[in-house]
Amino acid sequence: MSLTNKNVLLGIGGGIAAYKSADLVRRLKERGFDVRVVMSQSAMEFITPLTLQALSGHPVASSLLDPAAEAAMGHIELARWADLVIIAPATANLLARINAGMADELITTTCLATEAPIALCPAMNQQMYRNLATQANLTSLASRGYTLWGPASGSQACGEVGLGRMLEPVDIAELAIQFFASSDAVQLKPLAGQSILITAGPTREAIDPVRYISNHSSGKMGFALAKAAAEMGATVTLVSGPVSLSTPKGVVRIDVESAQNMLDAVMNNVDNKDIFIGCAAVADYRINDVATCKIKKSTEEMQLALVRNPDILATVASLPNRPFVVGFAAETHDVETYARDKLKRKNLNMIAANDVSVAGLGFNADANALRVFWPQGNQDLPATDKLSLARQLLSLIVKEKTNT
Ligand code: PMT
Repeated sequence: MSLTNKNVLLGIGGGIAAYKSADLVRRLKERGFDVRVVMSQSAMEFITPLTLQALSGHPVASSLLDPAAEAAMGHIELARWADLVIIAPATANLLARINAGMADELITTTCLATEAPIALCPAMNQQMYRNLATQANLTSLASRGYTLWGPASGSQACGEVGLGRMLEPVDIAELAIQFFASSDAVQLKPLAGQSILITAGPTREAIDPVRYISNHSSGKMGFALAKAAAEMGATVTLVSGPVSLSTPKGVVRIDVESAQNMLDAVMNNVDNKDIFIGCAAVADYRINDVATCKIKKSTEEMQLALVRNPDILATVASLPNRPFVVGFAAETHDVETYARDKLKRKNLNMIAANDVSVAGLGFNADANALRVFWPQGNQDLPATDKLSLARQLLSLIVKEKTNT
């Protein structure tokens, strides 16, 4: 894909990660993007416009009230020029102002004035990131179509450790490439003519008529895959455990409760499918003897006997005319080892592993990060919103399926 005709407008917010933005300009240029830079007033306390001008090869804009800059390329023209706007670092303050629709300086005004997609790369102290106000701003921005890239987890400039680090420039540049590839994928419909079966959400294993065993899956990742697959031209059937999400446009949805119900629905619908993706968090065990009446509280302790549930993914993978089978792995440690083990043991074509110990990613979050493994290779898909991630995973599936 040629990127030489793609324009990226980089908005730099005033955080310590602004020093990485110089490298980001370089990485984007290396990949063929034309890059222009807009800086917030506070960003210039961390890095000089001159550095960014030298790296981007264009004058850097920072003021709404600069007659010379407006005469060269006015802020509306700049907003129109961009094919993609990346805000990196997107500080807590900047996110709040963009979410509020403020036009108080050039960088926020550009976000209001552009029709281009906007990717936000949050960067802040981990506590500030976890603060409910920041989370509410991010949720609101994501619901309005802003794309979130990151943040990453790790040690921070303030000495704390946690989620809030800006993604590395090389990862952001890679996401920009994936972004245009998946936008093209939506337009080119590489899954046209393909039939996909996807599982999503949790299962519920009844204990008695009022209680059950389940897990924290919200269904968001599986529903994002269904939406992205439909956008890319596939005929999509989605088997979902109990979730409170609306069905993506054009997707046929089958609602189930337990793992056994999910297996039955999958087996009834798997014939002639080209791709199967097991994204559901299926309960590994169910109650051996489900009580028909509500169990009354009588003893201090009670024991529940559990029996193993059938493995839906492995069952599909063992079918004679099996589809291309993609599993997920939710792990809290030794992610690669366990994912590779499941890839082999369940005889899968591909597995997408997520580290569900990272706060803000995975179960019931709007963002996720995946490490994808297949017999001949692997690829990391850094933290981003689940729809963008779904598009990237499906693009990988299309590529690998063509190679097998
Ligand atoms: O739903 P969200 O809130 O958006 O969260 C997304 C997610 C974290 C649930 C998702 O990204 C994810 O990781 N899904 C798989 C969760 C899981 O059950 O992982 P596992 O490692 O226990 O299972 C491995 C694979 O076997 C999975 O593809 C699972 O669907 C499948 N499996 C497991 C048990 C079983 N009895 N049958 C199965 O098919």
